[in-house]
Amino acid sequence: MKVETLRWENDKLEMIDQRILPAAFEYLSYDSAAAVAEGIRSMVVRGAPAIGVAAAYGVALEALRLSASTLSSVKPLTPTRPLASLSPEGRGSSDAAGFTAGMEAGFSVLAQSRPTAVNLFWALQRMRNVWQSVESQTPPQIAQRLLAEAHEILAEDIRINRAMGVHGAALLKDGARVLTHCNAGALATAGWGTALGVIRSAVEAGKKISVIADETRPFLQGARLTAWEMVQENIPVTLITDNMAGYMMAQGEVDAVVVGTDRVAANGDVANKIGTYMVAVLARRHNIPFYVACPLSTIDLSIASGAQIPIEERSVEEVKGFRDTQWAASGVRIRNPAFDVTPAELVTGLITEKGVVSLPDQAGIARLFSV
Ligand code: MRU
Repeated sequence: MKVETLRWENDKLEMIDQRILPAAFEYLSYDSAAAVAEGIRSMVVRGAPAIGVAAAYGVALEALRLSASTLSSVKPLTPTRPLASLSPEGRGSSDAAGFTAGMEAGFSVLAQSRPTAVNLFWALQRMRNVWQSVESQTPPQIAQRLLAEAHEILAEDIRINRAMGVHGAALLKDGARVLTHCNAGALATAGWGTALGVIRSAVEAGKKISVIADETRPFLQGARLTAWEMVQENIPVTLITDNMAGYMMAQGEVDAVVVGTDRVAANGDVANKIGTYMVAVLARRHNIPFYVACPLSTIDLSIASGAQIPIEERSVEEVKGFRDTQWAASGVRIRNPAFDVTPAELVTGLITEKGVVSLPDQAGIARLFSV
Protein backbone atom coordinates (compact mmCIF):
# COMPACT_ATOMS: atom_id res chain seq x y z
CA MET A 1 0.00 0.00 0.00
CA LYS A 2 1.29 3.45 -0.85
CA VAL A 3 -0.06 6.18 1.40
CA GLU A 4 0.78 9.61 -0.02
CA THR A 5 0.40 11.68 3.13
CA LEU A 6 1.47 14.78 1.21
CA ARG A 7 1.59 15.24 -2.54
CA TRP A 8 2.18 18.02 -5.07
CA GLU A 9 -0.82 18.32 -7.40
CA ASN A 10 -1.76 21.11 -9.80
CA ASP A 11 0.80 23.51 -8.31
CA LYS A 12 -0.59 23.03 -4.81
CA LEU A 13 0.21 20.93 -1.77
CA GLU A 14 -2.38 18.30 -0.99
CA MET A 15 -2.50 16.59 2.41
CA ILE A 16 -4.67 13.73 3.66
CA ASP A 17 -7.06 15.12 6.27
CA GLN A 18 -5.97 12.97 9.21
CA ARG A 19 -8.66 14.42 11.47
CA ILE A 20 -11.37 12.47 9.71
CA LEU A 21 -9.52 9.20 9.10
CA PRO A 22 -10.54 6.37 9.11
CA ALA A 23 -14.19 7.37 8.64
CA ALA A 24 -13.30 9.25 5.45
CA PHE A 25 -10.26 9.52 3.17
CA GLU A 26 -9.92 12.99 1.72
CA TYR A 27 -7.20 15.34 0.51
CA LEU A 28 -7.23 19.04 1.35
CA SER A 29 -5.42 21.54 -0.87
CA TYR A 30 -3.01 24.28 0.28
CA ASP A 31 -1.61 27.31 -1.54
CA SER A 32 0.13 29.50 1.06
CA ALA A 33 2.32 29.38 4.15
CA ALA A 34 -0.55 30.58 6.36
CA ALA A 35 -2.86 27.85 5.08
CA VAL A 36 -0.22 25.14 5.61
CA ALA A 37 0.47 26.48 9.10
CA GLU A 38 -3.22 26.16 9.91
CA GLY A 39 -3.19 22.59 8.52
CA ILE A 40 -0.31 21.76 10.88
CA ARG A 41 -1.89 23.51 13.88
CA SER A 42 -5.26 21.80 13.42
CA MET A 43 -3.57 18.42 12.77
CA VAL A 44 -4.76 17.81 9.23
CA VAL A 45 -1.12 16.74 9.00
CA ARG A 46 0.75 15.53 12.08
CA GLY A 47 3.76 13.44 13.03
CA ALA A 48 7.16 15.08 13.26
CA PRO A 49 8.63 14.22 9.82
CA ALA A 50 5.35 14.94 7.99
CA ILE A 51 5.12 18.33 9.73
CA GLY A 52 8.66 19.10 8.50
CA VAL A 53 7.78 18.21 4.91
CA ALA A 54 4.57 20.25 5.07
CA ALA A 55 6.49 23.27 6.39
CA ALA A 56 9.01 23.01 3.54
CA TYR A 57 6.15 23.11 1.03
CA GLY A 58 4.62 25.99 2.98
CA VAL A 59 7.77 28.03 2.35
CA ALA A 60 7.83 27.08 -1.34
CA LEU A 61 4.13 27.90 -1.76
CA GLU A 62 4.66 31.30 -0.18
CA ALA A 63 7.54 32.03 -2.55
CA LEU A 64 5.43 30.97 -5.54
CA ARG A 65 2.48 33.06 -4.36
CA LEU A 66 4.58 36.15 -3.72
CA SER A 67 6.57 35.82 -6.93
CA ALA A 68 3.38 35.45 -8.98
CA SER A 69 2.18 38.80 -7.68
CA THR A 70 5.52 40.49 -8.36
CA LEU A 71 6.50 38.59 -11.49
CA SER A 72 7.07 41.32 -14.04
CA SER A 73 8.27 44.20 -11.92
CA VAL A 74 10.54 42.55 -9.45
CA LYS A 75 14.29 43.09 -9.43
CA PRO A 76 16.81 40.66 -8.00
CA LEU A 77 17.38 41.13 -4.28
CA THR A 78 20.53 42.89 -3.20
CA PRO A 79 22.35 40.22 -1.20
CA THR A 80 23.90 42.75 1.16
CA ARG A 81 20.58 44.28 2.20
CA PRO A 82 19.79 43.26 5.81
CA LEU A 83 16.51 41.33 6.04
CA ALA A 84 15.63 43.03 9.33
CA SER A 85 15.44 46.43 7.66
CA LEU A 86 12.50 45.38 5.50
CA SER A 87 8.99 46.18 6.69
CA PRO A 88 6.28 43.50 6.70
CA GLU A 89 3.86 45.96 5.07
CA GLY A 90 5.61 45.16 1.83
CA ARG A 91 3.98 41.73 1.66
CA GLY A 92 2.60 41.10 -1.82
CA SER A 93 3.88 44.45 -3.11
CA SER A 94 5.59 44.69 -6.44
CA ASP A 95 9.20 44.84 -5.38
CA ALA A 96 11.93 42.62 -4.07
CA ALA A 97 11.60 44.06 -0.56
CA GLY A 98 7.96 43.01 -0.56
CA PHE A 99 8.97 39.50 -1.54
CA THR A 100 11.52 39.31 1.26
CA ALA A 101 9.13 40.68 3.87
CA GLY A 102 6.39 38.31 2.70
CA MET A 103 8.76 35.37 2.97
CA GLU A 104 9.75 36.35 6.50
CA ALA A 105 6.08 36.51 7.48
CA GLY A 106 5.61 33.05 5.96
CA PHE A 107 8.52 31.59 7.92
CA SER A 108 7.16 33.17 11.08
CA VAL A 109 3.60 31.83 10.76
CA LEU A 110 4.92 28.33 10.01
CA ALA A 111 7.30 28.43 12.99
CA GLN A 112 4.38 29.18 15.29
CA SER A 113 2.19 26.29 14.14
CA ARG A 114 3.36 23.59 16.61
CA PRO A 115 6.19 23.77 19.16
CA THR A 116 7.42 20.26 20.01
CA ALA A 117 8.34 18.48 16.75
CA VAL A 118 11.81 19.77 15.93
CA ASN A 119 11.51 18.63 12.31
CA LEU A 120 9.39 21.74 11.74
CA PHE A 121 12.29 24.03 12.69
CA TRP A 122 14.82 21.77 10.98
CA ALA A 123 12.89 22.04 7.70
CA LEU A 124 12.44 25.81 8.02
CA GLN A 125 16.17 26.27 8.61
CA ARG A 126 17.00 24.09 5.61
CA MET A 127 14.63 26.13 3.41
CA ARG A 128 16.10 29.37 4.75
CA ASN A 129 19.62 28.18 3.90
CA VAL A 130 18.50 27.41 0.35
CA TRP A 131 16.80 30.79 0.06
CA GLN A 132 19.97 32.54 1.23
CA SER A 133 22.06 30.60 -1.27
CA VAL A 134 19.99 31.98 -4.18
CA GLU A 135 18.86 35.32 -2.78
CA SER A 136 20.49 37.28 -5.60
CA GLN A 137 18.13 35.60 -8.09
CA THR A 138 14.64 36.78 -9.05
CA PRO A 139 11.67 35.72 -6.90
CA PRO A 140 10.35 33.28 -9.54
CA GLN A 141 13.78 31.63 -9.70
CA ILE A 142 13.98 31.53 -5.90
CA ALA A 143 10.49 30.02 -5.72
CA GLN A 144 11.41 27.24 -8.18
CA ARG A 145 14.56 26.44 -6.22
CA LEU A 146 12.59 26.28 -2.95
CA LEU A 147 10.00 24.03 -4.54
CA ALA A 148 12.74 21.68 -5.75
CA GLU A 149 14.09 21.55 -2.18
CA ALA A 150 10.66 20.71 -0.75
CA HIS A 151 10.35 17.86 -3.28
CA GLU A 152 13.81 16.67 -2.22
CA ILE A 153 12.92 16.78 1.50
CA LEU A 154 9.86 14.63 0.78
CA ALA A 155 11.78 12.06 -1.28
CA GLU A 156 14.64 12.02 1.24
CA ASP A 157 12.23 11.34 4.12
CA ILE A 158 11.01 8.15 2.46
CA ARG A 159 14.60 7.02 1.78
CA ILE A 160 15.51 7.68 5.42
CA ASN A 161 12.49 5.75 6.70
CA ARG A 162 13.47 2.82 4.50
CA ALA A 163 17.01 2.87 5.89
CA MET A 164 15.75 3.05 9.48
CA GLY A 165 13.41 0.19 8.69
CA VAL A 166 16.27 -2.08 7.66
CA HIS A 167 18.28 -1.29 10.81
CA GLY A 168 15.26 -1.65 13.08
CA ALA A 169 13.90 -4.84 11.51
CA ALA A 170 17.07 -6.67 12.53
CA LEU A 171 16.15 -6.03 16.19
CA LEU A 172 12.80 -7.82 15.95
CA LYS A 173 12.66 -11.59 16.15
CA ASP A 174 10.38 -13.62 13.92
CA GLY A 175 6.97 -13.77 15.59
CA ALA A 176 7.54 -10.62 17.67
CA ARG A 177 4.53 -8.93 19.23
CA VAL A 178 5.34 -5.23 19.06
CA LEU A 179 3.57 -2.58 21.07
CA THR A 180 3.51 0.94 19.64
CA HIS A 181 2.08 4.24 20.83
CA CYS A 182 0.52 7.04 18.75
CA ASN A 183 1.04 6.84 14.99
CA ALA A 184 4.59 6.83 13.71
CA GLY A 185 3.63 5.39 10.35
CA ALA A 186 3.35 6.46 6.73
CA LEU A 187 0.80 9.05 7.83
CA ALA A 188 3.32 10.66 10.21
CA THR A 189 5.98 10.90 7.51
CA ALA A 190 6.21 11.31 3.75
CA GLY A 191 5.76 7.53 3.52
CA TRP A 192 6.71 4.14 5.06
CA GLY A 193 6.99 5.50 8.62
CA THR A 194 9.50 5.48 11.45
CA ALA A 195 8.24 2.99 14.09
CA LEU A 196 5.72 1.44 11.69
CA GLY A 197 8.43 1.59 9.02
CA VAL A 198 10.51 -0.74 11.21
CA ILE A 199 7.52 -3.09 11.41
CA ARG A 200 6.87 -2.85 7.65
CA SER A 201 10.54 -3.62 6.91
CA ALA A 202 10.51 -6.63 9.27
CA VAL A 203 7.38 -7.96 7.53
CA GLU A 204 8.99 -7.27 4.13
CA ALA A 205 12.00 -9.32 5.32
CA GLY A 206 9.67 -12.26 5.88
CA LYS A 207 9.16 -12.01 9.64
CA LYS A 208 5.76 -12.65 11.18
CA ILE A 209 5.12 -9.54 13.23
CA SER A 210 1.97 -8.57 15.08
CA VAL A 211 1.25 -5.12 16.43
CA ILE A 212 -0.41 -3.96 19.63
CA ALA A 213 -1.63 -0.40 19.10
CA ASP A 214 -2.27 1.85 22.10
CA GLU A 215 -5.33 3.90 21.26
CA THR A 216 -3.47 7.09 22.32
CA ARG A 217 -5.83 9.37 24.17
CA PRO A 218 -6.98 12.03 23.57
CA PHE A 219 -6.51 12.40 19.79
CA LEU A 220 -6.66 8.63 19.15
CA GLN A 221 -3.81 8.43 16.64
CA GLY A 222 -3.38 4.75 17.58
CA ALA A 223 -7.01 3.72 17.25
CA ARG A 224 -7.65 5.75 14.11
CA LEU A 225 -4.37 5.93 12.21
CA THR A 226 -2.03 3.11 13.30
CA ALA A 227 -4.89 0.60 13.29
CA TRP A 228 -5.99 1.84 9.84
CA GLU A 229 -2.49 1.60 8.36
CA MET A 230 -1.91 -1.91 9.68
CA VAL A 231 -5.35 -3.18 8.63
CA GLN A 232 -4.78 -1.79 5.11
CA GLU A 233 -1.65 -3.90 4.85
CA ASN A 234 -2.93 -7.03 6.52
CA ILE A 235 -0.37 -6.74 9.31
CA PRO A 236 -2.08 -8.28 12.36
CA VAL A 237 -2.98 -5.53 14.80
CA THR A 238 -4.76 -5.51 18.15
CA LEU A 239 -6.09 -2.28 19.58
CA ILE A 240 -5.90 -1.65 23.34
CA THR A 241 -6.69 1.38 25.46
CA ASP A 242 -3.60 3.08 26.88
CA ASN A 243 -4.23 1.78 30.40
CA MET A 244 -4.11 -1.86 29.22
CA ALA A 245 -0.41 -1.77 28.26
CA GLY A 246 0.79 -2.81 31.73
CA TYR A 247 -1.59 -5.76 31.83
CA MET A 248 -0.46 -6.95 28.38
CA MET A 249 3.19 -6.74 29.43
CA ALA A 250 2.55 -8.54 32.72
CA GLN A 251 0.82 -11.33 30.77
CA GLY A 252 3.94 -11.78 28.65
CA GLU A 253 2.15 -10.64 25.51
CA VAL A 254 4.63 -7.94 24.45
CA ASP A 255 8.11 -8.75 23.06
CA ALA A 256 9.25 -5.24 22.15
CA VAL A 257 8.09 -1.63 22.12
CA VAL A 258 8.85 0.58 19.11
CA VAL A 259 7.75 4.22 19.06
CA GLY A 260 8.58 7.36 17.10
CA THR A 261 9.68 10.70 18.50
CA ASP A 262 9.14 14.42 18.05
CA ARG A 263 12.45 15.58 19.46
CA VAL A 264 15.51 13.92 20.98
CA ALA A 265 17.85 15.99 23.14
CA ALA A 266 21.65 15.79 22.90
CA ASN A 267 21.72 13.42 25.91
CA GLY A 268 19.22 10.97 24.37
CA ASP A 269 16.07 12.05 26.25
CA VAL A 270 13.08 11.45 23.97
CA ALA A 271 9.92 13.55 23.61
CA ASN A 272 7.00 11.70 22.09
CA LYS A 273 3.21 11.56 22.28
CA ILE A 274 1.78 11.81 25.79
CA GLY A 275 1.76 8.36 27.38
CA THR A 276 5.06 7.21 25.88
CA TYR A 277 6.89 7.75 29.19
CA MET A 278 4.36 5.52 30.93
CA VAL A 279 4.98 2.78 28.34
CA ALA A 280 8.76 3.11 28.74
CA VAL A 281 8.55 2.75 32.53
CA LEU A 282 6.36 -0.32 32.14
CA ALA A 283 8.71 -1.81 29.55
CA ARG A 284 11.67 -1.44 31.94
CA ARG A 285 9.65 -3.01 34.78
CA HIS A 286 8.94 -6.02 32.56
CA ASN A 287 12.37 -6.22 30.95
CA ILE A 288 11.00 -5.53 27.47
CA PRO A 289 13.23 -3.64 24.99
CA PHE A 290 12.04 -0.10 24.31
CA TYR A 291 13.18 1.23 20.90
CA VAL A 292 12.76 4.69 19.44
CA ALA A 293 12.83 5.13 15.66
CA CYS A 294 14.32 8.53 14.98
CA PRO A 295 15.65 10.21 11.83
CA LEU A 296 18.62 12.51 12.44
CA SER A 297 16.35 15.47 11.62
CA THR A 298 14.52 14.76 14.90
CA ILE A 299 17.67 15.09 17.03
CA ASP A 300 18.13 18.54 18.53
CA LEU A 301 21.78 18.96 19.49
CA SER A 302 21.10 22.50 20.67
CA ILE A 303 19.40 21.29 23.83
CA ALA A 304 21.27 19.38 26.50
CA SER A 305 18.38 17.40 27.97
CA GLY A 306 14.68 16.69 27.64
CA ALA A 307 13.90 19.28 30.31
CA GLN A 308 14.41 21.95 27.65
CA ILE A 309 12.00 20.45 25.11
CA PRO A 310 8.92 22.66 24.75
CA ILE A 311 5.80 20.61 25.47
CA GLU A 312 2.70 21.63 23.57
CA GLU A 313 -0.49 22.09 25.60
CA ARG A 314 -3.48 21.60 23.31
CA SER A 315 -7.10 22.61 23.68
CA VAL A 316 -8.97 21.15 26.67
CA GLU A 317 -11.79 20.31 24.26
CA GLU A 318 -9.76 17.28 23.11
CA VAL A 319 -10.00 15.83 26.65
CA LYS A 320 -13.45 17.07 27.56
CA GLY A 321 -15.28 15.01 24.94
CA PHE A 322 -15.56 14.49 21.21
CA ARG A 323 -17.30 16.75 18.71
CA ASP A 324 -20.75 17.47 20.19
CA THR A 325 -20.45 14.95 23.02
CA GLN A 326 -19.04 16.05 26.36
CA TRP A 327 -18.25 13.33 28.90
CA ALA A 328 -16.24 15.33 31.43
CA ALA A 329 -18.07 17.03 34.30
CA SER A 330 -18.79 20.65 33.45
CA GLY A 331 -16.59 23.06 35.37
CA VAL A 332 -13.76 20.58 35.96
CA ARG A 333 -10.20 21.85 35.42
CA ILE A 334 -8.57 20.02 32.49
CA ARG A 335 -4.95 19.67 31.35
CA ASN A 336 -3.88 18.52 27.88
CA PRO A 337 -0.08 18.25 27.56
CA ALA A 338 0.37 16.60 24.17
CA PHE A 339 3.85 15.12 24.72
CA ASP A 340 6.01 13.73 27.49
CA VAL A 341 9.73 13.07 27.87
CA THR A 342 11.21 9.61 28.33
CA PRO A 343 14.64 9.78 29.99
CA ALA A 344 17.46 8.29 27.90
CA GLU A 345 18.11 5.68 30.61
CA LEU A 346 14.83 3.95 29.68
CA VAL A 347 15.68 3.72 25.96
CA THR A 348 17.17 0.41 24.80
CA GLY A 349 18.11 1.74 21.39
CA LEU A 350 17.66 4.68 19.06
CA ILE A 351 17.03 3.43 15.51
CA THR A 352 18.34 5.95 12.99
CA GLU A 353 19.09 5.93 9.26
CA LYS A 354 22.77 5.62 10.21
CA GLY A 355 22.25 2.58 12.42
CA VAL A 356 21.17 1.76 15.96
CA VAL A 357 22.57 3.65 18.96
CA SER A 358 22.27 1.24 21.87
CA LEU A 359 21.63 2.81 25.29
CA PRO A 360 21.82 6.31 23.79
CA ASP A 361 23.80 8.97 25.60
CA GLN A 362 25.55 12.19 24.62
CA ALA A 363 28.61 10.43 23.19
CA GLY A 364 26.56 7.91 21.19
CA ILE A 365 24.40 10.64 19.71
CA ALA A 366 27.37 12.89 18.92
CA ARG A 367 28.96 10.00 17.00
CA LEU A 368 25.96 9.91 14.65
CA PHE A 369 26.83 13.38 13.44
CA SER A 370 30.57 12.85 13.18
CA VAL A 371 30.48 10.22 10.41
O1 MRU B 1 0.56 15.13 17.95
P1 MRU B 1 1.11 14.27 16.84
O2 MRU B 1 0.10 13.31 16.29
O3 MRU B 1 1.79 15.11 15.79
O4 MRU B 1 2.23 13.42 17.55
C1 MRU B 1 2.94 12.50 16.78
C2 MRU B 1 3.87 11.68 17.56
O5 MRU B 1 4.04 11.85 18.74
C3 MRU B 1 4.67 10.69 16.79
O6 MRU B 1 4.92 9.54 17.56
C4 MRU B 1 6.02 11.32 16.40
O7 MRU B 1 5.79 12.51 15.72
C5 MRU B 1 6.82 10.42 15.56
S1 MRU B 1 6.16 10.33 13.96
C6 MRU B 1 7.11 9.48 12.94
